[in-house]
Amino acid sequence: MTNPSTDAALRCGARVLNNDRVSSGLIRLDLELEQKQDFEPGQFAMINLPGPGAFVFSRPFSILNIQDHVVSLLYRVVGRGTRALELMQPGGELTFLGPLGQPFGIPEDNRPVILVGGGVGLPPVWAWLKKHGRASDAGFFGARDGADVPWTLLDERWHVSVDSDKHVPAGKQAWQGLVPDLVAREIPADDDTPRLIMACGPIPLLRAVADLASSRRWQCLVSLEEHMGCGYGACKGCVVPVLDLSGSEGWRNATCCQEGPVFRAESIDWSRYGQRDFEIVG
Ligand SMILES: Cc1cc2nc3c(=O)[nH]c(=O)nc-3n(C[C@H](O)[C@H](O)[C@H](O)COP(=O)(O)OP(=O)(O)OC[C@H]3O[C@@H](n4cnc5c(N)ncnc54)[C@H](O)[C@@H]3O)c2cc1C
Ligand code: FES
Repeated sequence: MTNPSTDAALRCGARVLNNDRVSSGLIRLDLELEQKQDFEPGQFAMINLPGPGAFVFSRPFSILNIQDHVVSLLYRVVGRGTRALELMQPGGELTFLGPLGQPFGIPEDNRPVILVGGGVGLPPVWAWLKKHGRASDAGFFGARDGADVPWTLLDERWHVSVDSDKHVPAGKQAWQGLVPDLVAREIPADDDTPRLIMACGPIPLLRAVADLASSRRWQCLVSLEEHMGCGYGACKGCVVPVLDLSGSEGWRNATCCQEGPVFRAESIDWSRYGQRDFEIVG
């Protein structure tokens, strides 16, 4: 993989331009930054409220897009921080730190890329297809049902799967089942083209994608969503277990924010990943 050079992270104020629902569960937030910025798909930003109302810890969100001064995020309301974001009106002020972390990069050998996003894991893979996608690349998006699909964001390069086929709008197509199964269906097992799959979503989806990639001998990159304190390597609150055959234990903790969030799937210690039983609260 080659990693295009990325801009240094910028810490600045951000003004809300739009904060609108694009599906039943997903909200697109467009922010105007004080300074122009760029990013590479897979990178993320830490977002917070300014001033005395700020949360102790900023919240990490993958970058959907940056165009000059305007950064776009896609989020789902799950707790205090995202509830506060949902209440933001155009003109409201936030703080932005980004872009942070390692991006997906670009395959050196030009092999076709399969992008897989589950639910709120869509932004980094959507960004890759928009920024680097060629005719040989394809996107696969999995949602709970037709109402949870952000149809306006998905062009003809995207294949959609749904757990339930309720609320699929007339004229739109969605296959009922799990998104890794849709990938396996669309790319038959006897197709031996070397491919690279990039995925972001819940852990079971990432495991299933990693297994599929391994069975097809595809390269596989996964973008992980760990709880984060700082976002830049200082707090060690975001560690993920990676295999390390040079040490006596055979594995080590890697910071998701600095060494990731994008990792090679075969570098993750899947037997330990997702086992932590504490949360960062603040
Ligand atoms: C690199 C990265 C990229 C991300 N990109 C996006 C994105 O594009 N869109 C999006 O909606 N979310 C994304 N997340 C997850 C997002 O950061 C959390 O949903 C958010 O921090 C929750 O804040 P809260 O205060 O609303 O929830 P809290 O009140 O802190 O927690 C509510 C629930 O959400 C869970 N949660 C909290 N933080 C995380 C986290 N970092 N990862 C997974 N679960 C969490 C908690 O375990 C709890 O169950 C990303 C996370 C990371 C690390
Ligand atoms: S979030 Fe602090 S080290 Fe990763």
